[in-house]
Amino acid sequence: MSAIVVVGTQWGDEGKGKVIDFLSEQADVVVRHQGGNNAGHTVVVHDREFKLHLVPSGILYPDTLCVIANGVVIDPKVLLEEIAYLEARGVDVKRLRISSKAHVVMPYHSKMDALNEERRGDQKIGTTLRGIGPAYMDKAARVGIRVGDLLHPGEFRDRLARVLEEKNHVLSRAYAVEPFDVDEMYDTFLAYGQAIKAYVSDTSRLVNAAIDRGQRVLFEGAQGTMLDIDHGTYPFVTSSHPSAGGAAIGAGVGPTKIDRVYGVAKAYTTRVGDGPFPTELTDAVGEDIRTRGHEFGTTTGRPRRVGWLDAVVLRYAVRVNGLSGIAVTRLDVLDGLPSLKIATAYEYQGARLTEFPDTSWQFRDVVPVYETLPGWDQPIGSVRRLEDLPLNARLYLGRIEKAVGVPVVLVSVGRERSHTIPLQSLF
Ligand code: IMP
Repeated sequence: MSAIVVVGTQWGDEGKGKVIDFLSEQADVVVRHQGGNNAGHTVVVHDREFKLHLVPSGILYPDTLCVIANGVVIDPKVLLEEIAYLEARGVDVKRLRISSKAHVVMPYHSKMDALNEERRGDQKIGTTLRGIGPAYMDKAARVGIRVGDLLHPGEFRDRLARVLEEKNHVLSRAYAVEPFDVDEMYDTFLAYGQAIKAYVSDTSRLVNAAIDRGQRVLFEGAQGTMLDIDHGTYPFVTSSHPSAGGAAIGAGVGPTKIDRVYGVAKAYTTRVGDGPFPTELTDAVGEDIRTRGHEFGTTTGRPRRVGWLDAVVLRYAVRVNGLSGIAVTRLDVLDGLPSLKIATAYEYQGARLTEFPDTSWQFRDVVPVYETLPGWDQPIGSVRRLEDLPLNARLYLGRIEKAVGVPVVLVSVGRERSHTIPLQSLF
């Protein structure tokens, strides 16, 4: 009987999909509350791989209610493709609910995303080009289209006409781009509205009712703390709140309803897109980890930048998320490396920093202070109990715990559901 939040502690791609899938077995409701189809979760169930971008991975269990809440931005075309993909693979999607307050990613959003990135040149953010930033910009500017709008033809037509007039003005004058046709867009999105109508509901009410009934509710974060628009490495961030507070706003539940927050941390670090990354490895070791870990983006296929574990980043994630514990994933990827490094502090202009710096400028210029630990030879993929891990793997986990100040609550040693070592009950 509890509500728990699972967030990424690094730059996304920590293996949250796997951890959330594992926990979903015990959940009655799984809620996605921020981001959009910039996210990509890969879940492997009995050798079958599922790639999901919008639908919570809880959908792979037959009885779990899955919610896409108000804080998400939804590209309806992608959502409908994902629903069709799941149905074609025998997954029942009737248990999906979509907030009428979620904002819609429109074609001009993806267009603006690409144009903005092009204009930024070597200062580009390296976005996923899915229109996520421009969709959240319109939400904040109060000119967004919401899922509920698609279900009211008259109001939708008026709103779209007004918004598109402004968008077309900017696109044609500032960027010399062909304007969008209002009738065509109206017809297309009205049809999308009809196609998702059966799933649309007041999801805040539904999630609160589930919590009040004593059901187990799991809030599934997308991206990671370091991509949070407030707490991440601004401006190289996404436009939503992947940190734990985002769950309350993004799902319409009060913070008092949330019992615990868990952070997922890869046993090393990766980052896609641009921006500072102090522990990045640009040598053969980094290449080796990228290859073993298949570190290529689920959404864009881009090679991920790879580096050593950064405990300063993790400590910061513990602070801004109020983490109750850490789930360490992909420990098996480090099998066979003779030694491993963990950044436990930074050097900045001759001074030692043990806390994450408060400004982006400092973070850009820090130099990691490493501790070196011995690696392990044996493959650990088949290990199911902590005590069966090689001593050096346990020492590595122990060092992480000591460096971040919260317990390691779960260890993942492979892609399958079964490749998981839970160390305590998380609900
Ligand atoms: P956007 O979210 O597409 O605007 O991209 C902004 C930044 O967040 C870029 O660096 C992206 O690579 C990164 N990003 C967005 N979604 C994910 C994700 O799910 N995993 C990892 N990085 C992401």
